[in-house]
Order: sequence, then structure tokens, then C-alpha cells
Amino acid sequence: MAHRPFPADNHARPAPLSTYRGPMLIRRETRADVEAIRAVHTAAFAKAETPHKVPVEATLVDALRADDAWLPALSLVATDSDGQVVGHVVGTRGWVADAPVALGLGPLGVLPAWQRRGVGSALMHAVLGAADALDEPLVVLLGHPDYYPRFGFRPAVELGVTPPGPWGPQFFQARPMSAWRSSIGGAFAYAKPFNDL
Ligand SMILES: CC(C)(COP(=O)(O)OP(=O)(O)OC[C@H]1O[C@@H](n2cnc3c(N)ncnc32)[C@H](O)[C@@H]1OP(=O)(O)O)[C@@H](O)C(=O)NCCC(=O)NCCS
Repeated sequence: MAHRPFPADNHARPAPLSTYRGPMLIRRETRADVEAIRAVHTAAFAKAETPHKVPVEATLVDALRADDAWLPALSLVATDSDGQVVGHVVGTRGWVADAPVALGLGPLGVLPAWQRRGVGSALMHAVLGAADALDEPLVVLLGHPDYYPRFGFRPAVELGVTPPGPWGPQFFQARPMSAWRSSIGGAFAYAKPFNDL
């Protein structure tokens, strides 16, 4: 059979976006990334009605980095072909019933010009894979129920894990990992900087 790696007319192949600029890499953050990460969350979480206000998500990342709950292996950036940071996600130590058996995930942010091109998904898969490799039993987040179930998240209450605030069960989600065990259950607690929001 003839080898046909691509269709004869490459123009017939759907391009992700006309502005696609090349490959993307996911890696751990370095000290040199701190300002770029802040800029990502500032832009990603900016509100139209208060465009000059620094969103809490941007300052939260700095506060988490200064906290004991920070896990350097779980702060990941996505970079474009020029090495510029276009997205960031972080998982920090969380607790279920006072036991350090969960991660709190977030913030997750992608520069607006880079959204809907798979950057957020790549960051999610990378941070979940890293968490699994580190034998973290559970990853917890507060997020949109349309977005996170595709990464294996479901209402945390289904796993017997309850939220630290009056949040709808569809928003307080958890992903059980390979090290999950059904004896885990109870109230979830985020790292302290989340409580200071
Ligand atoms: C949410 C976010 C991280 C997703 O990253 P992304 O790179 O745009 O996502 P992906 O390209 O991997 O996935 C795209 C899919 O996610 C969903 N999605 C992405 N952004 C969305 C949004 N703002 N609202 C609803 N669904 C969204 C859509 O289903 C989309 O698929 P579609 O393009 O076929 O409609 C990014 O849009 C972002 O930074 N938003 C602002 C900050 C934020 O809300 N963070 C999450 C807090 S819970």
C-alpha cells in the first residue's frame, strides 16, 4: 500500500487557528517565570468592568509560592515557540479530614490570545500526570462543570469529600488518582492563602 502521510492537498487539513505560532512545551516553572506567570493570570482573569484591577488569582499564586503548601514539581508553565509563557497551572498541598492526601488545583490560566487552542488541556493533563506519578490520591478544584469532567473530575461529594465553603456540588470537583482509597473522606481544606482571598 502506498505511503500517504498527508493528504495530497495540505490546505485541506484543518488548521487549529490561523494565528497558530508553532509548538508548545509544558515544563516546571523556574524563578525566571514568576513575572510572566503573574501576567498570565492577570490577563486570563481580568474583568471587563475593572480592567486595571489585579485579579485575586494573580496575587494568590504569589502567596501560594511563599507558603509551606507550595509543591515546586506541580507548578507548570506552557511556553510558545519563542519560549514565552502563555499558560500556567499549579497544584498545592490540600487536606482531607486534616490528612495531607489531596491537592488543591488552581489557578489555571491561559493568555486570552492563546485560549481555545488546547493549552489549558495540555496543562491539565500534565499536572494530573505529575500528581499521579507523585502518588497523590486526590486532586480537588473549584471550577466550571462543563470544563473539568473531561479530565476525570466529578462532584467531590460523590467521593465523600465535602467543600470548605457553601459551594454547589457541581463546582466543587475531585479527580481520584491511582493512589485513591475509599477510606479517604471528610472535609477538604485548601492551603491557607486560599482562605485569605
Ligand atoms: C479555562 C481556560 C484555562 C481553558 O484553557 P484553554 O486553553 O482555553 O482550553 P482548551 O483549549 O484546552 O479547551 C478548550 C475547550 O474548553 C472549554 N472552554 C475553554 N474556555 C472556556 C470558557 N471561558 N468558558 C467555557 N468553556 C471554555 C471549551 O469547551 C473549549 O472547547 P471549544 O473551543 O471546542 O468550545 C482558559 O480559557 C482561561 O484561562 N480562562 C480564564 C481563566 C479561567 O476561567 N480559569 C479557570 C478557572 S476555573
